[in-house]
Amino acid sequence: MKKINTLAILIALSLTGHTSNVWGQDNQNTTPATQETKQKTKTHNQKKMLKMALGTALFFDVNLSKNRTMSCATCHNPSTAFVDQRGNGVDSMASLGDDGHSLGDRNAPSAAYAMFFPEFQENKGKTKDKSAFLGGQFWDGRESNLAGQAGGPPTNPIEMGMPDKLSVVNRIKENGVYIKQFKTIYGDDIFENTEKAYGAMADAIATFEQEKSLFAPFDSKYDRFLRGEYELTVLEDLGRSLFFSENNVNCSTCHKLKREDAEGEVFTNFEYRNIGTPENTELRAKNGATATDYGLWHNPKAQTEDSKGKFKVPTLRNVAVTGPYMHNGVFKDLRTVILFYDKYNNPKSRINPETGKVWREPEVTQNLALDEFDKRYEKLLEKQKVAKKEAEKTNQEAPQQSQEEKTKK
Ligand code: HEC
Ligand code: HEC
Repeated sequence: MKKINTLAILIALSLTGHTSNVWGQDNQNTTPATQETKQKTKTHNQKKMLKMALGTALFFDVNLSKNRTMSCATCHNPSTAFVDQRGNGVDSMASLGDDGHSLGDRNAPSAAYAMFFPEFQENKGKTKDKSAFLGGQFWDGRESNLAGQAGGPPTNPIEMGMPDKLSVVNRIKENGVYIKQFKTIYGDDIFENTEKAYGAMADAIATFEQEKSLFAPFDSKYDRFLRGEYELTVLEDLGRSLFFSENNVNCSTCHKLKREDAEGEVFTNFEYRNIGTPENTELRAKNGATATDYGLWHNPKAQTEDSKGKFKVPTLRNVAVTGPYMHNGVFKDLRTVILFYDKYNNPKSRINPETGKVWREPEVTQNLALDEFDKRYEKLLEKQKVAKKEAEKTNQEAPQQSQEEKTKK
């Protein structure tokens, strides 16, 4: 990665955000079909609409938390691109739980575009350059999919704090409308089995999270540019070129799934990498966490040495407004993130502008993705090795000369 044109990239990143106000609008496509398939689609759609309505209500329902103070939307607020912008006494670096004092250790990622992460799985096409795993929800992919994920927060002691699944189901049963909806969608006997009722709740929430006009509108400036509805400024266009360029800054090695400028890009390859994010000591002074966050390694399906320090490559959709950044919210400004990447190849980029100090060491030094930041890195290493060998050879042949070399240095 060569020295980065920070401003241009920053401007390009601000292109990926949500800009229109179509929240909640339904733009489902209708396709021509025969009467019979039309009827089938209708029933299917009706069921989906019912689930969607139920999931919407559940996503915003504070009764699913112990003190009835928080819902999914508290930490994934639709008016701030589905992230937690409450501040929480730590500039939104992490989230405060329903008990009013438990402070997490990871930054809440956006729930928008999360639907595109495939189930957590081994990376079949694995080559030297790819990670062994891909997909999944959370920074470490430990929940395979949205429904699995949605079952987590209500009973998480530092989030919504409910003691167990039964108590969550009992809260659902306090609401007569829910009872009716659950029975209509999932069958009259749904409440006879706690596990099943809890799973139905998660399923409904996951359905809501797949509502495209809300969670994946693809209506940023960049999307409109691709559709020919917006003309990029010179600087925006430069940033775009740099972002996709493979011999400059390499952002697209990890933050791109499709070909350059393809519609529907989610700006992540769904893989896992260690980019050397430092520990967030400021946050940890407040939440008291001390254990190293090894990322992917905490996923029970991926506990190998190779997983240590790797985190899921996040989507860059809405990134202009989803700060602070990284799994631990260690960087407040987008510009800092770019300067952080720049430090790997630009010797002048030594200072973190937010702390005024030299960049801190990575929290986990294993498995750093150094060669991806600079494709020249391996070649340089190879060159060095060859040079060393040649030097040794000349050493043996002409020790006199090599002595001279040494004194010169
Ligand atoms: C107290 C704040 C809080 C609440 C409440 C909360 N979340 Fe989260 N959410 C987080 C944090 C923090 C993470 C990242 C955790 C991690 O990676 O270990 C996260 C991760 C996620 C993700 C994964 C996104 C990704 O890209 O990996 C989704 C989806 C999500 N939450 C949906 C929900 C739903 C649905 C609910 C309600 C049932 C909910 N959250 C409740 C804080 C919260
Ligand atoms: C080797 C793969 C890789 C490359 C190359 C890469 N990134 Fe990342 N990026 C990641 C990973 C992994 C994270 C999450 C790291 C963490 O949380 O510790 C991340 C995080 C980010 C974030 C923070 C997003 C958030 O929601 O917190 C931004 C912004 C970002 N990258 C932009 C870029 C830009 C711009 C470039 C090119 C200059 C780039 N990345 C190059 C893998 C990569």
